[in-house]
Amino acid sequence: MIRVAIIGAGRGGTSLIHILHNDPLVTIVGVADIDPHAPGMLLASQLKIPITTDYRRLLRLSKVATIIDVTGNEEVARALLALDRPEVAVVGGPGAKFMWQLIEERIRSKEEIERHLREYQSLYRLYMREVRHAISEERTRIALDIHDGLVQTLAGLSYKLDLCQEFLTLDPVRCARTLKETQDVLKSAIEEARQVVFNLKPLHFDRLDLHPALKHYAKTYAKQYRIATTVSLAGSEKNLYPKTKIFLFRIIQEALSNVQKHAGASRVHVGVDIEKTSLTATIRDNGQGFDLPEISKDPEKWASLGLKGMSERARLLGGRVRIDTAPGKGTTIAVDIPLKNKEYERLG
Ligand SMILES: Nc1ncnc2c1ncn2[C@@H]1O[C@H](COP(=O)(O)OP(=O)(O)OP(=O)(O)O)[C@@H](O)[C@H]1O
Ligand SMILES: [Mg+2]
Repeated sequence: MIRVAIIGAGRGGTSLIHILHNDPLVTIVGVADIDPHAPGMLLASQLKIPITTDYRRLLRLSKVATIIDVTGNEEVARALLALDRPEVAVVGGPGAKFMWQLIEERIRSKEEIERHLREYQSLYRLYMREVRHAISEERTRIALDIHDGLVQTLAGLSYKLDLCQEFLTLDPVRCARTLKETQDVLKSAIEEARQVVFNLKPLHFDRLDLHPALKHYAKTYAKQYRIATTVSLAGSEKNLYPKTKIFLFRIIQEALSNVQKHAGASRVHVGVDIEKTSLTATIRDNGQGFDLPEISKDPEKWASLGLKGMSERARLLGGRVRIDTAPGKGTTIAVDIPLKNKEYERLG
C-alpha cells in the first residue's frame, strides 16, 4: 500500500484525489490547502480523508511514502526541497503538473464515454418504444382492415345468399342473377383476404421495407382522406438500418397526418431519395401553409409533439428537418439524414 499526501486542492489536487482514491494500492493520508473551501478539500472531507490548511503537517506525517505537490507555490517547493527524509518520494513542479493533466484527461475521456453510452441507451429506449408502438399500430390497422373490408363483404355475401334462397322457387331468374353477383362479391372477398395477408408483411419491423410500406400507407391515406397522394422512392433502401427506416416512416406519417388535419390540401407528394452518403425525404402539400414564426411563438401549438417529434427523430438519426411554408403557399417538410458508410455498405 502506497501512502500518499497531496498538497494543493485545486483542479490538480481534486483530479488526483478522484483517481487515487479509487486505486486499491494507494491510501491518501492527507490533503492540504491554505483555502479550507478549495474543491479538493471538500471532496477529501466527503471521502473522510484527513485535511489541513497547514501543508507542513503533511511533511511531518510518519507513514507517508510519497508527497505530491500540485500548488505551483515556491515556498512549498522550497520546503519540499529542504525536506530531510530520504524514505519519502517527492513529486512536484512540472512533473506533478504533467501527472495531474494526464489524470484529468483520463477522467475527461471516461466522462465522454459515459455520455456517449447514455446517449446510445436513450436512443435504444426510443427505438424499442418505436418498434413496440409500430407493432401495436400495425395490429390496429390490420384489425380495422379486416373489420371494415373483409367482414363487411362477408356480411353482404350472407345477405345475398339469403335472397337467393328466397327467390329459388319464386323467381329463378332473379335467383340466378343474385347468385352471379354473389360470385363476384366472393371474388372480391378473396382479394381482400389476400390484401390483409399481404398487409401483414410490414409487421416484421426489423425487416420493414420502406417502399411497399409507404406505398400502402399512401394508398390507404388517399382513399380515407380523399387527398391525391403520390410516392416516389429513388435509390436502394436495402442497406438502411431498421432504425433509420422506422424513424423515417414515423416522420412521414406525422407529416401526412398534419396535411390531413391542417393543410386543407388536395394533393401531397412524398419523395424519398437515398444516396450513398445521405438520405432526403420531402413531403410537399398544396394546402394553405402556415406562419411558422407565429406557430413557434404560440406555446400551446409548439407544445404539441408533431413538428417537434419529427425534428427529434431526425436529430436522433444525426439529421434535421427543414420546414418551408408560408400562408397560402403550401408546406414542404424536408428531412435530411446523413448515412454512415457502414450503414450503406452493410449487408442485409
Ligand atoms: N402541412 C401543414 N399545413 C398547414 N399547417 C400545418 C401543417 N403542418 C403543421 N401545421 C401547423 O403547425 C402546427 C403544429 O403542428 P404539430 O404537428 O406540431 O401539432 P398538431 O398537429 O397541432 O398536434 P399533434 O401533432 O401533437 O397532434 C399545427 O397546429 C398547424 O397549425
Ligand atoms: Mg401534428
